Amino acid sequence: MEVTIKEEARAEIKIWNYVFGYAKIVVVKCAIELGIADVIENYGSPMPLSELATALRCEPSRLHRIMRFMVHDRIFKQEPINQHTVGFSSTPLSRCLIKGGEKSMAAFILLMSSPNCLAPWHSLSARVLETGNNISPFEVANGKDLWSYAEANPDFRELFNNPMDCDARLTVQATIEGCPEVFDRVESLVDVGGCNGTALSLLVKAFPWIRGINFDLPHAVAVAPKSDSIENVEGDMFMSIPNADAAFLMWVLHDWDDEECIKILKKCREAIPEDKGKVIIVEAVLEEDKEGDELGVARLMLDTATMVITNKGRERTLKEWSYVLRQSGFTRFNVKPIRAVQSVIEAYP
Ligand SMILES: C[S@@+](CC[C@H](N)C(=O)[O-])C[C@H]1O[C@@H](n2cnc3c(N)ncnc32)[C@H](O)[C@@H]1O
Repeated sequence: MEVTIKEEARAEIKIWNYVFGYAKIVVVKCAIELGIADVIENYGSPMPLSELATALRCEPSRLHRIMRFMVHDRIFKQEPINQHTVGFSSTPLSRCLIKGGEKSMAAFILLMSSPNCLAPWHSLSARVLETGNNISPFEVANGKDLWSYAEANPDFRELFNNPMDCDARLTVQATIEGCPEVFDRVESLVDVGGCNGTALSLLVKAFPWIRGINFDLPHAVAVAPKSDSIENVEGDMFMSIPNADAAFLMWVLHDWDDEECIKILKKCREAIPEDKGKVIIVEAVLEEDKEGDELGVARLMLDTATMVITNKGRERTLKEWSYVLRQSGFTRFNVKPIRAVQSVIEAYP
């Protein structure tokens, strides 16, 4: 009986998180657009509201309400300046909101809170009701699927590519630190769906013996910087993939269903040597029942986002990864957890 009362009480509190669930993302978007984290970080000591309002040219009482929310959510700290005044200070979390900061996720938040990416969520229930694969919620809202829309709209393309850069920087760093041995004896590496080559340039910097091939659709490769250690190649991964010792796929396979993944992986298998080749996949591995996994909920949210934004994409459990890899002709694979939402999967012919 007591459990039931406690559960009831908890539910009555928790439901408010759903009623106003969007408030968190839009307040943080507002903070990024105003540059609040940047200004407080540059100030160097606790910054009073009056000075913050002047620096940002904001209406002080409205800014106070936004700051009160973010202090409550521990995005910023409030610290005494003197007996009568307090000021705002940075935290590791607020530094994730600094535009272009080392660990910035600002571009990701700007993408996911953009009208292009928020509108499709209104079609989630329709998506769940339908059988088969008709058009994605993204296409319902924007008139084109994600890749065609990005190709036709350079502004959206930039909005989409910037967070891929943010994630690539953090996840590649986590890969380099967490499992550098994956790149031992890899002399050439093709980054399939490598976008503008950010991930590959970090990898060849960390492992300078690697010759890199950045492979993506023409519009993505067109904005990739040129470098001596990386060749940019445009093409379609469903048709053919340039040859290399290893194929690297980060946040690519989760955009596609099993049948499409198997087609991509078979093309990767054709591109690598039968004896010493491998495919390195950097993707989430869902562990549905694992308690205490702090990133578990982020992986599940990512999975719902792929349902809304991509045509047929999904995050996968270990069993589901095993299925697509075996169906593509890979005989063995291992999974290496890293400090990221994704893990590193090495698969061998
Ligand atoms: C979610 S992004 C990931 C980008 C990059 N791997 C990263 O993690 O930063 C997926 C990439 O797949 C590319 N892509 C989509 N369809 C493709 C195709 N048919 N052939 C090659 N690349 C494709 C997109 O252009 C995009 O750059």
